[in-house]
Amino acid sequence: MAPQIKYTKLFIDNEWVDAKSGKTFETRTPHDGSVIAKVAEGDKADIDEAVKAARRAFHRNSEWRLLDASQRGALLNKFADLIQRDTAYLAALESYNNGMVMGVATQFLARVVSNIRYLASLADKVQGDTVPSDGDLFSYTLKQPIGVAGLILPWNGPIITFVNKVVTALAAGCTVVVKPAEQTPLTALALAALLLEAGFPRGVVNVVNGYGETAGAALTHHPHVAKISFTGSVEVGKLIQQAAGANNLKRVTLELGGKSPLVIMDDADLNVAIPFAANAIFTHQGQVCVAASRLYVQAGIYDKFVAEAVKHAQARKIGNPADPTTQHGPQVDEEMMTKVLGYIEKGKKEGAKLLTGGNRVGNSGYYIEPTVFADVKDHMTIAKEEIFGPVQSILKFDTLEEVIDRANDTSYGLAAGIFTTNVNNALQFSKHVEAGLVWVNTYFSMSCQTPFGGFKDSGLGRESGFNCIDAYLEVKSVSISLPKRI
Ligand code: NAI
Ligand code: MG
Repeated sequence: MAPQIKYTKLFIDNEWVDAKSGKTFETRTPHDGSVIAKVAEGDKADIDEAVKAARRAFHRNSEWRLLDASQRGALLNKFADLIQRDTAYLAALESYNNGMVMGVATQFLARVVSNIRYLASLADKVQGDTVPSDGDLFSYTLKQPIGVAGLILPWNGPIITFVNKVVTALAAGCTVVVKPAEQTPLTALALAALLLEAGFPRGVVNVVNGYGETAGAALTHHPHVAKISFTGSVEVGKLIQQAAGANNLKRVTLELGGKSPLVIMDDADLNVAIPFAANAIFTHQGQVCVAASRLYVQAGIYDKFVAEAVKHAQARKIGNPADPTTQHGPQVDEEMMTKVLGYIEKGKKEGAKLLTGGNRVGNSGYYIEPTVFADVKDHMTIAKEEIFGPVQSILKFDTLEEVIDRANDTSYGLAAGIFTTNVNNALQFSKHVEAGLVWVNTYFSMSCQTPFGGFKDSGLGRESGFNCIDAYLEVKSVSISLPKRI
């Protein structure tokens, strides 16, 4: 049974409101493409109301600013309790609106709860220094919340990106305006309802659905927004950085895409490496920023590996994401499906060897078969551009030195992986590969304690980890003149 859709309006100043224009937009389920709700479509005027509410909530005398930091942590833990209570519903709604299979959605929700508890524990551990400054001065630093943060979300992980951004900002003491992706507006509203239930004061969290070019751009240009955190495409990441310098000087964190290399050495334990390599590209239909979309396999095991990779792709169970046994659901929308199928055509045209998949599944919904290309060359489009779909590209290499240089020959730098039983290979690769995350004999191993973010065009700044809260803090140096020496 389809999950009930309880919230479709904008959430501003702890109230559910229509867009000022009265406009709505349709949202669909990628399983069959049918419209499942009409959602309020926010625009510049609504963003402005939301920023005003967030500014009021950030005033020095507001309930939020007067709250002890430990109490901010307590409120966030309450939010985690409510997510835990509603996990089944939230996973079902994520799956319904996004196409994420239930198994993955449920895993994400468990991670979300532990992420919140970790971030909540940081709220009252923001400490400055006492500084031995020159002159007769007593100096210390204060770390203070930056102000109103604008958080722009992608559609590929609507719940986890909402939580990671919102909770980090709130732990720091900021107030926020969230602009979810237009493809997946629903779970952000369900989470806003839980923040309301948890007891966050008015204006601390505001959620305005709408399109990127309108609502998103209004947020990035707003003079009273002090910080933007964005996850999405490199193209829009660059626009956001420009917009952030237009009217005021916003702080910016960008989590962008990748073309992440995964290297399998001749000496790897293939029983482990083969299934990991398949999951590293096919999980969530390839719509993962750290997906291993360039699979480099060493010459000695290449043929054997390719044959096994095909079997793994063919074994994935395709179907309705709501069915808990489904491994492979639909792409998020028709546009992404068409884009991915276009990349598959390019792969064929440019001479890569299509070994399995390559087609749309049926003609209802946005399903694409798990697809494997072998004999891919570095210059081919499918080896260069982020596909964001279930397309495994396998490339052959001879030496570690060669594969490191080939892995780094890209403008991206998000993640990288290596399977090897030789510690020297692992150490050399981890040292020289240009990526913000490196996995050895594993892939996708992320935790709230480790920083997350990219080198080069894959982003700016880091989320997660002990220091993530700094992205929402300003440092203030205070120097007090001491009386004459005694
Ligand atoms: P996108 O970057 O256009 O959208 C992401 C978010 O940015 C959405 O909330 C959107 O409304 C907003 N946005 C779009 N234009 C904006 C603007 N001018 N100002 C402010 N906000 C704006 O990504 P899209 O079009 O959904 O996907 C395109 C490609 O981006 C994908 O094929 C994939 O390669 C990559 N991508 C990477 C993600 C990641 O996790 N790093 C997530 C989503 C997409
Ligand atoms: Mg776009």
